[in-house]
Amino acid sequence: MKTLFKNIKELVQVREYNISFVSGKDMSVLPTIKNAFLVVENGKISGFGKMEDCPKTQNTEIIDLSGRLLMPTWCDSHTHIVYAGTRETEFIDRIKGLSYEAIAKRGGGILNSAKQLQNTSEEDLYLQSKMRLDEVIKLGTGAIEIKSGYGLTLDAELKMLRVIKRLKENFNVLIKATFLGAHALPETFKNNKKGYVKLLIDEMIPKVAEENLAEYIDVFCETDYFSVEDTALILNSAAKYGLIPKIHVNQFTAIGGVQVGVKCKALSVDHLEEMRDEDINALKNTATMPVALPGCSYFLSIPYTPARKMIDSGLPLALATDYNPGSAPSGNMNFVVSAACIKMNMTPEEAINAATINGAYAMGVHEELGSITQGKLANFMITKPINSYGFIPYSFGVDVIESVYIKGKKVENK
Ligand code: NIG
Ligand code: FE
Repeated sequence: MKTLFKNIKELVQVREYNISFVSGKDMSVLPTIKNAFLVVENGKISGFGKMEDCPKTQNTEIIDLSGRLLMPTWCDSHTHIVYAGTRETEFIDRIKGLSYEAIAKRGGGILNSAKQLQNTSEEDLYLQSKMRLDEVIKLGTGAIEIKSGYGLTLDAELKMLRVIKRLKENFNVLIKATFLGAHALPETFKNNKKGYVKLLIDEMIPKVAEENLAEYIDVFCETDYFSVEDTALILNSAAKYGLIPKIHVNQFTAIGGVQVGVKCKALSVDHLEEMRDEDINALKNTATMPVALPGCSYFLSIPYTPARKMIDSGLPLALATDYNPGSAPSGNMNFVVSAACIKMNMTPEEAINAATINGAYAMGVHEELGSITQGKLANFMITKPINSYGFIPYSFGVDVIESVYIKGKKVENK
C-alpha cells in the first residue's frame, strides 16, 4: 500500500541522513522543505522532496495537504501514564498553601498513588492507562516512554510493567518501559531505606529482568528520597541485567545526581530544574541527554530548567511531559513545546528539535523516529491550515493538529 501526500505547505524536520541528536547552536536549525511531497509505503517513509520533483504514481492513494504542515510526531521520553486514580484533592490543598513536599511527608504524593494502584485490578489499570495513551496519540505523540514506580511492592511493580507490556502489544506507537521501583520509600520500609534498596537489588531488578519487562532503570535521586550513593548502587546492579539508566535528578535540590548519571552512562537525566554550573559542565561532551519537563515546573510552580544557559553552553536538550498524577497531570506535548518557548526562552526551532529528534534519542528510538528521513516509521502529524510552525507554540492551548498518522495509518476519531 502506497500513499502520496502532496502539496504539503511545509515539510518540517527533514533530515536527509539520520542523526542521533542536535546540540548547542545546531538546535536552532530546523530543516524544512516548502511545497513538498511525501510518500509512505508499508508504514515507512519511502520518499519526499519538492513538489516539482513529485513522482507520477499508479496504484497510489493521493492526499492533498494544501495549506497544511507535515511534521514528525512528538517523542515523549518521560511519562508515568500507568497510574490509578487522580490526585486533584492534593492539587486543591496546594492552592490553599500546602507545599508538594509537605503533602508527600504526610503520606500523600507518590504513596497516595501507590495505595490507589495496589488496590486497582490489572484490568482496570490497563483501561485507565489505555485511555491516556489514546488521548496523547491524538495530541501528536508517536513514541512514549512509560515508567513503573507507583507500585512499590514486587507484585504491584510487576502489575504496572505488565500493563505497559500490554500497551506495547496493542498499540502501534513505539513504547519503552522503565523500572522505577526506587521512586519513594514504601510505608512498610519507612525507617528502613537500606532494606528497600536491598529488596530492589536482590529481588525486584532480577525479576523485572527475568520477565523482560523493562528496557530502562530509573531512580528518584533527591533529598529525602534516594541519595547519590543509593542511586549508584541501584544503577550498577541494574547494569548487570542490561538495564540502561534514565534518571530523575535535580528536581528540588542539586545533590550530584547529574554526575552519577553521567558516570553510569545514563541515556538521559531528567527534570534539571536546579542546575549548578558544575552540573552543566558534567554533561558536556557526553552521550547523556538532558531532559526538561516544563509541564511539571508549570504545575508545581517550581523553577524551569535553565534551557538557555544549557543550550548556549553547547548542550543538547530534550523536552517531555512527565505525565503523572502528582506533578504534571497532562500529556500534551504541544503545551510542553509552547511552555518551553514562553517560559524557557527556547525558539520554536529549538523546542521542536527537543521534542522530536532529541526526544527520540532520550528514549532510544532515534533510528526509527524523530525526523522525516527515508526508512523511518511514518509517524507524523498534519496541522490545520496555519502560516508557519511558529504558530504551534504561539497559539498555546489551541489544538492545531488536524490528523495524526502512526505507521502510515490515520488515527481514527481525532
Ligand atoms: O517526575 N519526581 C518524581 N516523580 C514524579 C512525580 C511523582 C508524583 O507526585 O506522583 C515526577 O515529577
Ligand atoms: Fe517523572
